[in-house]
Amino acid sequence: MQRHLTALDQLIINADKSLTTLFGNTRTTGRPYPAKETPSQELNKDEQQHASGLMRINHAGEVAAQGLYQGQALTAKLPEVRQQMERAATEENDHLDWCDQRLQELQSHKSRLTPLWYSSSFTIGALAGLAGDKWSLGFVAETEKQVVKHLEGHFNSLPEKDQRSLAILKQMHADESQHAQAAVEAGGAALPWPVRKLMGLTAEIMTRTAYKW
Ligand SMILES: [Fe+2]
Ligand SMILES: [Fe+2]
Repeated sequence: MQRHLTALDQLIINADKSLTTLFGNTRTTGRPYPAKETPSQELNKDEQQHASGLMRINHAGEVAAQGLYQGQALTAKLPEVRQQMERAATEENDHLDWCDQRLQELQSHKSRLTPLWYSSSFTIGALAGLAGDKWSLGFVAETEKQVVKHLEGHFNSLPEKDQRSLAILKQMHADESQHAQAAVEAGGAALPWPVRKLMGLTAEIMTRTAYKW
């Protein structure tokens, strides 16, 4: 028999997930590291710095994805929607892990504002969940679509020698496209233009900040 989770149970589960997101040991799907078979090439200082900045942005984005999905899972009404968000969030954990590993290979650091990216995204996700499932799913679809576009920008911006980061971003790109499609198929509504615009602006502030910080 399935146990009914109270709001308090959900809150405790989420607090636990937040802590694992911020401090490590996240649950992943166990897929292999996409750069595993890609040979590493020596980067000069500028290339290393630029690649690190880009991967720091992507890591911050994945932290934000955790916040959004977990916030939504807390407030989404339909059980299937909640389940679907949680599955996608587990795949986002893979991305988070891969970006983390790549940043370490590049001998760089994660964004120092990681807790801020997480907490603000969690709040936005929870609000989207409260707005109702079709909006919540529409929000996932729009977020993922914007991430797909953003990743395509990084394909061109990465130093040519950084094939390892590229291999990671390519796999993430495939996953995010699928997340977007799944959310639309599950009944996600198209968001009004001002909301989409605001989401884009918020993402831009985050990317500009996380590149350095
Ligand atoms: Fe992701
Ligand atoms: Fe995603």
